[in-house]
Amino acid sequence: MAEIDLKTDLAGIALANPVMLASGTAGYGSELAPVIELSRLGGIVLKSVTVEPSKGNREPRIWETSSGMLNSIGLENVGIEALIDRVLPELADLGLPVFASIAGETVRAFARLGAMLQSAGGFAGIEVNVSCPNVERGGIQFGVDPNATKAVVKAVRENCSLPTFVKLSAAVGDITRVADAAGQAGASGLSLINTIPGMAIDIERRRPRLGAVTGGLSGPAIKPVALKAVWDCYRATGLPIIGGGGVYDSADVVEFLLAGATAVSLGSAVFQDPTRALTVVDGLGAAIERAGATSAKELIGGLKTW
Ligand code: FUM
Repeated sequence: MAEIDLKTDLAGIALANPVMLASGTAGYGSELAPVIELSRLGGIVLKSVTVEPSKGNREPRIWETSSGMLNSIGLENVGIEALIDRVLPELADLGLPVFASIAGETVRAFARLGAMLQSAGGFAGIEVNVSCPNVERGGIQFGVDPNATKAVVKAVRENCSLPTFVKLSAAVGDITRVADAAGQAGASGLSLINTIPGMAIDIERRRPRLGAVTGGLSGPAIKPVALKAVWDCYRATGLPIIGGGGVYDSADVVEFLLAGATAVSLGSAVFQDPTRALTVVDGLGAAIERAGATSAKELIGGLKTW
């Protein structure tokens, strides 16, 4: 096999390879450190934090369906102060770029979170989560509306100069309108896609499988949806994209690169097998070669449309 260059550049952030762990799958980093050699990955995105800690939704919060995993965690998190005081000091030891993720019920909350991360330093970048389907306020309600997304991103950018990636939902009429609004407000890039709203029902008990009734679907079933979102937003905005949704193997990563992603995150695959991301990194050189390239970078947006 020829020497394959796995490096990528995500809005100025140098990644050793494009393989990342999506928010919600890596906790706050240190939980996974004893299990996998995190420094072999391109980067990780931590669980979204809000201004105040949150206990999340009532249980059950996870249900395995025949077409993927439903979750309704409801943004359980330690809160921004604990992230900065307790988590941040340990991140340098992980040896890879770490991205914070923020979620807020109001534009003001997003502004405050951005300001606090700006003062704290230490993060490679931030993900602005405007697409959680599992909270009553401040999740996907922002991400379905280009104007609301623009207001959130503008507020974050006015308070924070870290590279900012806006996490969007594909459960909208035209995702490129929201992506474009994020770009106009100063987003450095996009993170596509969040889980897709769904539900499952226990027929004997006539009850939903999830305590919150509905949740977000992830896994292989959403990969085609995610690929299209990446392809559409890449062409519409030209912004760097962290693509993800149903990524299980190295060929999946190459598909996302070809659609226009600069980096690619694993989500539910990591719940099944936390070491999966390293297997994906190990196979990436061969998958890039199968696509006729010698580097990850040259595949970005390289889809041929006949
Ligand atoms: O329920 C959750 O915590 C999920 C968050 C998300 O999808 O952004």
